[in-house]
Amino acid sequence: MSIEIQVCVAPPRELGADVLVMGAFGAAGGELMTPALKEADKALDGALKRAIEREEFTGKADQSVRVDTLGRLGAARLVILGLGEAGSFGASVARTLGSRAAQAANAEKSASLGLVVPEAAAQHARSIAEGLELGAYRFTKYLTGDRRPKTEIQRAILGFDVKPGHGTQAQIRLGQRVGAAINLARDLSNEPGNVMYPESFAAAAAQVAKSAGLKIEIFDFSAIRRRGMKLIDAVGRGSAREPRLVHVSYAPKGAKRVLVFVGKGVTFDSGGLSIKPAAGMGEMKHDMSGAANVLGLMAAVAAIKPKIAVHAVAPCAENMPDGDAYRPGDIWGSLDGKTVEITNTDAEGRLILADALAFARSLSPDVIVDNATLTGACVVALGPTCTGWYSNDEATAQEFQAAVTQSGETMWRMPLLGDLREQIKSEVADIKQTGERWGGSITAALFLKEFVGDIHWVHCDIAGPAAAEKTPPGLSSKGATGHGILTFLEMIERAAG
Ligand code: BES
Ligand code: MN
Ligand code: ZN
Repeated sequence: MSIEIQVCVAPPRELGADVLVMGAFGAAGGELMTPALKEADKALDGALKRAIEREEFTGKADQSVRVDTLGRLGAARLVILGLGEAGSFGASVARTLGSRAAQAANAEKSASLGLVVPEAAAQHARSIAEGLELGAYRFTKYLTGDRRPKTEIQRAILGFDVKPGHGTQAQIRLGQRVGAAINLARDLSNEPGNVMYPESFAAAAAQVAKSAGLKIEIFDFSAIRRRGMKLIDAVGRGSAREPRLVHVSYAPKGAKRVLVFVGKGVTFDSGGLSIKPAAGMGEMKHDMSGAANVLGLMAAVAAIKPKIAVHAVAPCAENMPDGDAYRPGDIWGSLDGKTVEITNTDAEGRLILADALAFARSLSPDVIVDNATLTGACVVALGPTCTGWYSNDEATAQEFQAAVTQSGETMWRMPLLGDLREQIKSEVADIKQTGERWGGSITAALFLKEFVGDIHWVHCDIAGPAAAEKTPPGLSSKGATGHGILTFLEMIERAAG
C-alpha cells in the first residue's frame, strides 16, 4: 500500500502528525542546532538539548535521538536523525532520510509522519518520496491475528520552509512509483517457493506488464525447448514446476539506444542432485531476486518513460533433484550453440543465464546488464551486503560506476581475470560449467562472458538475499533484494540523456 504524501509550507509544529522527524547535520566544530531545532528545543523547555547531550548525538549519519513532546509540538514524539556532514548531502542522503523517517514512524507505531525537509533536500523531493516508500516496507502478508502490525504509516506530510519548486508534486509521485517498484521486487523475492515458482512469477510479470502498459512475451516449457534453450531445459527439468522465460519490453518510438537487463530467476535452489546442506537452504527462495529486480525495474521504467528502449529478460526455473533431473557429467547444448560439461548441478544460475544472455543478444542491445544471486564465493569476497560487478568494456564500466556512485548503492567492481579462464576448459565439451575452489565469483563471470560475444556487458553478482525484507536500498551499505535497481535506473536515465 502506498503512503499518502502531502506537501505543506508551515513551521514544524503545524504539520499535524503523530511523529515529527527532523534532520541534523553533523557539525565538525560548527552548529548542530538549526533554527528549527532551536525552536523545538524552546517549546520543550530544553528537553531536546538535554537528550542530544545525554545521547552524545553529534549528527552522524547513523545516529538518532527520540524525545516525547508531551504534545507540545503538535506531535506526540520528535525524532532527530543524523544526516552526516552537510557537504555530502545529495539525492542518496535525501532518500536515506525519507527511508529512516518512515522506519521511525513505523517503529513509533504512528499512522502519520511529519518530516521537516531540510533546505538542502528541497530539490530532492523524488528521492525523499522513494525513501519513504522503501522505509515503510514490511513483508507482513502471512502474519495473521495478533501477529499483524496494528499501526502502519499511512500519511506523510513534508514540511518545507519556503514554497517548493513547481513540479514537486509530480516528482513526489514519481518517487513513490519508483519506491513501489522496488518494493514489488522485494515482495516477489520474499514469497516462499511454494507460492513463487516459474509459472506464478510469469503470471506476476504479466500483471505488472498489463498495469504498466508494457509488452510481455512468456516462453513456456515447450517454447523453451523448441527454441533451443537447452540449458534452461537442463536446469528446469528436475522440477514438477515447469520453467519459463519472461521477456518484458519498453520500446518508445524513436529510441536510439537499447538496454537489456537480465535477471536470474531460480525460484528455489535446492542444488539439484548436487544437493545443498539443509542449513540455510530455505534462503534459496530468494534465488530469483535478479528476476524480481528486472521486473521491478520495468515497473519503474514505465513510470519514468525514458527515451530509450529497455528490456527485461528473466529465465525462471526451480532447481530440484529428480529421476529426470540433469546430472553432473552431462553434456548439454545451449541457445548460443556451445556445449557445456556439467560438473555441479548447484551451479545452475550461470546455465539459465547463458541461454538468457544469448536471447538478449537477439534484441540488438547496446549494453546488456545481468544480475544474479550467482555465487556464495562473492558473498565470501565482499560480505553479505555488497554486490560484485564485472564488465568486459571500459567505457561501459565507467558509465556503470558513475551510476553506482550516484545511486549510493554498495557495489564493487571485480576483475574478469583472464588467468582463471583455464579453470573452465573442458576435455569433452566447449566449456566446463564450474572452475575450481578459489575465485568462484570470477570463474562464474568468465563462464557468462562466453555467452555475450562482443556486446558491451555488465554482470552483477548480487548478495544478501537473506536481508531482503529488512533493508531498503540506499539506506545503508546493506545489500538486499531490490539492491541494484536504483543503479540500473540511474544508468537508464543517463543513457536517455
Ligand atoms: N544461488 C547460489 C549462490 C548463492 C548462495 C548466493 C548463497 C547467495 C547466497 C548458486 O546457485 C550456487 O549454489 N552456487 C554455487 C556454485 C558452486 C557449486 C560452483 C556456490 O556458490 O556454492
Ligand atoms: Mn545453486
Ligand atoms: Zn542458485
